[in-house]
Amino acid sequence: MLLTEIDHVAIAVRDLEAAIDYYKRAFGATVDHREVVESDGVEEALLKVAESYVQLLTPTRDDSPVAKAIEKRGEGLHHIGYRVNDCAAALEAMVAAGATPIDTAPRPGSRGTTVAFMHPKGSFGTLIELVQE
Ligand code: CO
Repeated sequence: MLLTEIDHVAIAVRDLEAAIDYYKRAFGATVDHREVVESDGVEEALLKVAESYVQLLTPTRDDSPVAKAIEKRGEGLHHIGYRVNDCAAALEAMVAAGATPIDTAPRPGSRGTTVAFMHPKGSFGTLIELVQE
């Protein structure tokens, strides 16, 4: 089994502060990490849940993929991040299994991770991110 943990569940929101505040009030959640990822045009807030995260995600510019997703489908579940030991090997295995890569090679993600995204089309409708710590 190449997956070692659910790394994060990513939720696209319009107002990051409002979403953080809601998770604080509803669950007593605290923000473990916050980062702007310029290359993806997003700002994230990670709320730790055991060994995983809820990742609240908001676009930082109109042409970012997350902005387009919110425009098309509204706020809500955006992708799931699967933790792996070797992102390149997992990417290769997914492609061999029929997945459609968005990233053809692993690239830097937030928190100093190495990531690769796979298109929902080849993965039963779910945008998948492979995350290597
Ligand atoms: Co992610």
